[in-house]
Amino acid sequence: MNAAPHNTPSARTSTQSRIQRPIATSGPLPSNQLVRRAGLSLWLIAACLVALSILSGCAPEPKPIAFEPNLVHAMKYQIKEGMPMEQASEDAFWIVTEMFGTPEDPKLPAIVTEDEDLAQVVSVDNLKRASGRIGESGRGLYQTHCVTCHGVTGNGRGELSSTMSPYPRDYRKGVFKFKSTDRGEKPTREDLAKLIKNGINGSRMVAIPNLTDEDVQALVDYVIYLSWRGELERSLIDDAVYELDLESGDRVINPNDRNSTDEELKETFDDSWELAEDFALEIGEAWMEAPDAVVEVPEAPEGIIVTNSHEEFVQIANSDQADELAKSVARGAMLFKGKIASCSKCHGEKGLGDGQNTDYDDWTKEWTIGIGIKPENRDELVSLMARGALPPINAQPRNFQQGAFHGGSTAADLFRRITIGIEGSPMPAVTFVDGEFEEEDVWHLINFIRSLQTAEPAEGASPTPAAKPDAAQSVSL
Ligand code: HEC
Ligand code: HEC
Repeated sequence: MNAAPHNTPSARTSTQSRIQRPIATSGPLPSNQLVRRAGLSLWLIAACLVALSILSGCAPEPKPIAFEPNLVHAMKYQIKEGMPMEQASEDAFWIVTEMFGTPEDPKLPAIVTEDEDLAQVVSVDNLKRASGRIGESGRGLYQTHCVTCHGVTGNGRGELSSTMSPYPRDYRKGVFKFKSTDRGEKPTREDLAKLIKNGINGSRMVAIPNLTDEDVQALVDYVIYLSWRGELERSLIDDAVYELDLESGDRVINPNDRNSTDEELKETFDDSWELAEDFALEIGEAWMEAPDAVVEVPEAPEGIIVTNSHEEFVQIANSDQADELAKSVARGAMLFKGKIASCSKCHGEKGLGDGQNTDYDDWTKEWTIGIGIKPENRDELVSLMARGALPPINAQPRNFQQGAFHGGSTAADLFRRITIGIEGSPMPAVTFVDGEFEEEDVWHLINFIRSLQTAEPAEGASPTPAAKPDAAQSVSL
């Protein structure tokens, strides 16, 4: 999201009492309390070690599940603009934690729950159900089914992520690929529910047996929640970069001033908080408006054969409509390879996905090409990978021989994919040219694409190839 030119009050310039605190804590701790806490936990560890030596078993505290700050987003500005980002990143993280809570105790900003319409976007009861730990009664859905790939924070960086191509989605960018809505719009709840319920064919994300409809709805809410939270954090960092003078010590917000008796400091705090609320509202409204942005799929004109699956395609190819279908396929092939639609540029003449395949998706581009570093120059990206960025891997155009469509395989799904493109990926939206390439031609393109498929894909089979081995070594600190 671009930093909107907001009227940031110039009063947000307090530099006083900047306390240093570890980046992942949600609130400032007075240093004496920190010392006391440190003392206490040292004592506990010692006690535990003693108990361990006696009982040879010390029940470990359950590992905390915590959200991680978006260090890559901050670090990329530090590299690009040469400005110090650590404090801004901490401040942004403090705000999102105040507003959205923690993985075990999620909540929504008050400004959202107080608004009758916005309060409908995400159900807090559903958040409770999807969040929490595995085994906690009535809770823990996300931890159980999603976290190994999408990570606690929804940053797409779970334990298994580096072996996949594309990587599991980082929800924090607020961009989704397989949706019924127009470019730049959020997906609808139904779009997300469909993917969660059925999995993403051709990827490692598979359907989960035994998920009830209520579970799916709770997970939809949780994905929106993580995306909302993550997008707000990014907006706050963007705004800090473009609107504040970070070098002179401007703060995104200074938590110490929340209840300050100094009127000026208190006002600065309130202004910063309200700006963050505006950002949160903007993101929530985009989610709320998604149903209005659904792209309607037109009826195919009379005489054009529409196939809803490879199976149906094969049936028609063996029926008395075979000639008509062959003509449709031929027209599709001509367009596919022609200069106007130029699908073959990326997908290759035979649709094997072997055309231009050295491009990257937007999630990768924004912290590489976006800051002037070639994704191939790994050495220059080490500091970003050390902060959580996964090694760049190329976006692969689909191989149509495999017949696995990530965004659904009905004619309507493919119609939308081709006309809208796939957001965040190199796959563009089509541009029609009167008399040469028109809307009805999309049905011919679909028939051509189906003609390339060599076999009916088994459910969940033909997954996209794993990330190249050299790309799988993520730098982790
Ligand atoms: C084994 C790994 C794995 C698991 C488990 C997994 N996913 Fe995914 N998920 C992926 C991958 C990989 C992608 C990206 C697919 C692509 O871009 O083609 C993805 C993409 C998504 C997307 C983005 C869809 C879009 O339109 O952009 C959503 C939403 C999502 N997953 C939700 C979930 C939820 C909710 C769960 C748990 C119920 C889950 N995933 C479990 C691997 C996984
Ligand atoms: C600039 C490169 C490029 C061009 C041009 C291009 N594509 Fe793609 N296409 C891609 C990439 C990359 C993907 C995979 C995107 C992803 O899932 O992340 C893709 C995926 C697809 C898919 C798979 C959708 C799904 O749900 O799995 C279809 C269908 C498709 N393209 C059709 C076309 C057609 C038809 C054209 C021409 C009108 C075209 N493409 C032009 C790059 C391109």
